[in-house]
Amino acid sequence: MRALSGIQPSGALHIGNYFGAIKQYVELQQQHEGFYFLANYHALTSIRDAQTLREYSLQLATDLLALGLDPGKSVIFKQSDVPEVTELTWLLSTVTPMGLLERCHAYKEKVAEGLPADHGLFAYPVLMAADILIYDSDLVPVGQDQKQHVEVTRDIAAKFNATYGEVLKLPEALILPELAVVPGLDGRKMSKSYDNTILIFEEPGALKKKVMSIVTDSTPVEAPKDPDKCNVYALYKLFATSEEQEEMAQRYRAGGLGYGEVKEELGRRIADFFASYRERRRKLAADPDHVRDVLKAGAQRARSEARVVLDRCRQAVGA
Ligand code: ADP
Ligand code: TRP
Repeated sequence: MRALSGIQPSGALHIGNYFGAIKQYVELQQQHEGFYFLANYHALTSIRDAQTLREYSLQLATDLLALGLDPGKSVIFKQSDVPEVTELTWLLSTVTPMGLLERCHAYKEKVAEGLPADHGLFAYPVLMAADILIYDSDLVPVGQDQKQHVEVTRDIAAKFNATYGEVLKLPEALILPELAVVPGLDGRKMSKSYDNTILIFEEPGALKKKVMSIVTDSTPVEAPKDPDKCNVYALYKLFATSEEQEEMAQRYRAGGLGYGEVKEELGRRIADFFASYRERRRKLAADPDHVRDVLKAGAQRARSEARVVLDRCRQAVGA
């Protein structure tokens, strides 16, 4: 089975990205062939400065390698290094009903957040469909927010197949049940668009400051508290065993536990959890040419696979 996913190089990775996406990619490498790419063409919907996009792309590749994506097990590459994808995007566009894209909530949400309502943003799920379909992917590990786009991909593939014969493989989204949305500092979904993130590679001082700024209610220290209504506890759970979670929950309910104490514990755990990744990242960042070489080798392999599926599609439509 082939697992494929893309991640936009649109800023430093945060803890939500780790638990919602990257952790799964790394684990999936044990059982499945992985195709993981930097979705830099998708990122053009929000980044319009070449130098920034280049920097974010290198940064993201470095982060992914530091966090455990292994070029020996997975094909790691940059979306734009496989131009076959944009050609397939056009072929898919011609069978994509407007209504299908009009129903996508990500478009409406992004416009509401202030992104320009460009055609690229609207047609973004078609590019994503091409990303997935061009490698005959079986599984697409993504967070809940991308589930609709994988469904759209299946709809587009089914429409293409209904029109031209069984050319494209229909993929499955892989959304792991424990992947609840990671909350941000303000309790909304952690997202760089909300400026409420804790970065994976946060500097120690900044990490401490951010953790201390997590929004809590004003229940006094002595009073019993409901752990399930607390953002600090929701984040703590990500870094604790089930016994530790239960113990902490009991301390909440018993009263006498201040949010400050839990925040300090959380800060320590985040720092410890990512310590070895941080060390690996430091080494990789000192050798950017190695990171670029990984992307280059990945692109070569990805292109050769993409060519086969694109040729099948060109043949099917009569191009
Ligand atoms: P952001 O919302 O910060 O822009 P992206 O949309 O780039 O993040 O997300 C990249 C990946 O990380 C996606 O697969 C997404 O589902 C996952 N992800 C992002 N934020 C969270 C979160 N708060 N909780 C769980 N998963 C998340
Ligand atoms: N749209 C995804 C996001 O914003 C990134 C992405 C692009 C992707 N192409 C993909 C994810 C293909 C999975 C499969 O997070």
